[in-house]
Amino acid sequence: MKIIGIETSCDDTCVSLIEKRKASFKVLSNIVSSQIEIHKKWGGVYPTLAKREHEKNLPLVFKKAVKIPLSEITAVAVTVGPGLDPCLWTGINFAKKINLPIIPVNHIEAHLIVSFFKQKKDLIIPRKEKMFPAVGLIVSGGHTLLVLIKKINHYQLLGETRDDAAGECFDKTARLLGLSYPGGPLIASIAKMNPDFKVKLPRPMINTKDNDFSFSGLKTAALYRLPLKEKKYKAAMAYEIQTAIIDVLFKKTIKAARENKVRSIIIGGGVSANKELQKRFSENKEFKVFFPSSGNETDNALMIALTGFFKKPLKNIEAQPNLKI
Ligand code: KG4
Ligand code: ZN
Repeated sequence: MKIIGIETSCDDTCVSLIEKRKASFKVLSNIVSSQIEIHKKWGGVYPTLAKREHEKNLPLVFKKAVKIPLSEITAVAVTVGPGLDPCLWTGINFAKKINLPIIPVNHIEAHLIVSFFKQKKDLIIPRKEKMFPAVGLIVSGGHTLLVLIKKINHYQLLGETRDDAAGECFDKTARLLGLSYPGGPLIASIAKMNPDFKVKLPRPMINTKDNDFSFSGLKTAALYRLPLKEKKYKAAMAYEIQTAIIDVLFKKTIKAARENKVRSIIIGGGVSANKELQKRFSENKEFKVFFPSSGNETDNALMIALTGFFKKPLKNIEAQPNLKI
C-alpha cells in the first residue's frame, strides 16, 4: 500500500511517497521546496505570494517525488488545515486532479504522529517503547498547544497559546534583533550567555494553573530592552529569548504530564528542532520524551503521508484554515 502526501499549508511546498511494509513504512521520497528566500524580505509569510509559489512549484515537486505510475498508489493524503486558506486550496485542488481517493489530514496532528515513529535510513519504524497515554506539545510557527494523547486518533486539547505561538515569538524577536526569517534557527545560532550583560525577560504564564501559554509579552519586553546593536549584547538577548521560551514550554509541559499521569511526552513542530529545547526535555528523568526524526521537525509531507495511513478517504474535501485537533 502506497500513499502520497501533499503539504502546502504555509510556505513549504512538499510531496512525499510512502509505502506500508509489514512493520514499517518505506520512505520512497520526501521533497520539500522552501519559499524562505521569497518571504524573507517581508519578515514573515505573505499568503498570496505563497499561493502563487505553491501553484508554480507543486507540479515540479510532485514530478520529482512520484516517479511510479499512479495505478500503483492507493490514495493521496493532503493537508486540509489549519493553515493559510489560499495555500491549503492549492494542495487540495492539486490532489483532486490526481484522481485517487483523498485522505484529509490535520497538519497539527501530523506534526505529532511523525514523532510516534523513528527513522532508520529510509525506513520509519514504530517506537517499541510504551508511549501512551502521553502529553503532546506542538510548537510551530502558527501553533503552540498541549494535548492529551490517549492513543492514535484520540486527543484532548489541554491548553494553547492565547496570542503568539512559540515559533512566532522566535520569528518576531529575531526581527527586533535585525535577524532574518525564520527567526528560530537564527536566534539559536547566535544565542550565547554573556555574564557581563545581564538581561532578564519575563516567563509569561509560567506558574499559572491552566495549560495555556502567552508569548506576545515576551516580544514586547524584548522591544523595551533594545536597541542592542552590539554583537555580544545581541547574542545575550538571543540567549535570554531562547531560554525564556524553553523555560515556559518545559515547566508547563511537565506540569501537564504530571497532572495527567502520562507515560511520555511527545513533541512536534518546527521549534522542536531547537537543540537547547531538546536538551532540556531529554534531561528530565520523569518522562520519556520523543522528538521527530531529524529533519522532520519543520513542515514536510512525510508526516502528512504517514498520518494518511491512520485515516480514511473522504468525498467532499475542503480547506479548513482554523481546523483544531
Ligand atoms: O512547523 P513549522 O515548520 O511550520 C508551522 O507549522 O508553523 O514551524 C516553523 C517555526 C518557525 O517559527 C521557526 O522559527 C521555528 O519553527 N523553528 C525553530 C527552529 N527551527 C525552526 N525555532 C527555534 N529553534 C529552531 N532550531
Ligand atoms: Zn507545521
